[in-house]
Amino acid sequence: MSEAIRLGVNIDHVATLRNARGGVHPDPLTVAKAAVAAGADGITIHLREDRRHIRDDDAERIRAWNGAPVNLEMAATEEMAEIACRLKPHAVCIVPERRAEVTTEGGLDVVGHRATLAPIIARLNAAGIRVSLFIDPDPAQVRASAEIGAAVVELHTGAYANGKPGELEHLAAAARLTEEVGLECHAGHGLTYANVGPIAALPQVRELNIGHYLIGEALLTGLPASVREMRRLMLAARNK
Ligand code: PXP
Repeated sequence: MSEAIRLGVNIDHVATLRNARGGVHPDPLTVAKAAVAAGADGITIHLREDRRHIRDDDAERIRAWNGAPVNLEMAATEEMAEIACRLKPHAVCIVPERRAEVTTEGGLDVVGHRATLAPIIARLNAAGIRVSLFIDPDPAQVRASAEIGAAVVELHTGAYANGKPGELEHLAAAARLTEEVGLECHAGHGLTYANVGPIAALPQVRELNIGHYLIGEALLTGLPASVREMRRLMLAARNK
């Protein structure tokens, strides 16, 4: 049987909604607590350079709560590395924020940015933070991630979610390769109730990070129900 699979709930869109009115409601920390109470294994937040959704204060409060592992998504910048080393989240996932850092499908171009990424990864590792790189399911990107010291890669499932032919096979092959090169494999982007099964069934995938769909469904069913249903579908696919 495959090993367990975790669900990280991305709460950026709660902050987007809060920011639309410039007040304090809905509060991402309150929603993080509700997601964990409903079975989320971790909370994912993306502190963008432009602070368009999650803000420094959100990140600090969610980390201080200490009620679940925090996966901090961030760009590979000096400012973000400093914040991460202070916050000490369980994990950092380095994501591209500028066009120049992006591969054709939208993952981080690790092959083209080894020289910038390696020292940031080393600094985060030295602070005791696990580093994940958000990459396309491309063998060259997987190998480069292992070579520059990442512990984890998160495979970008956006093209798969958009129905690109052959993409599930690319994801399956990249997931197998992570095992060969000693990386832990995560996946995410665009996952829904309808498309999560085949990804959750990939035996090397240990964590999925899901946001937009869960928050959208929460409008109809409530967040505890959407988190529980996503977990149920993940586990059903895993144990089939
Ligand atoms: N993983 C990463 C690295 C992301 O940047 C995002 C969202 O931006 C997600 C997962 C979640 O994607 P979605 O909101 O489409 O579920």
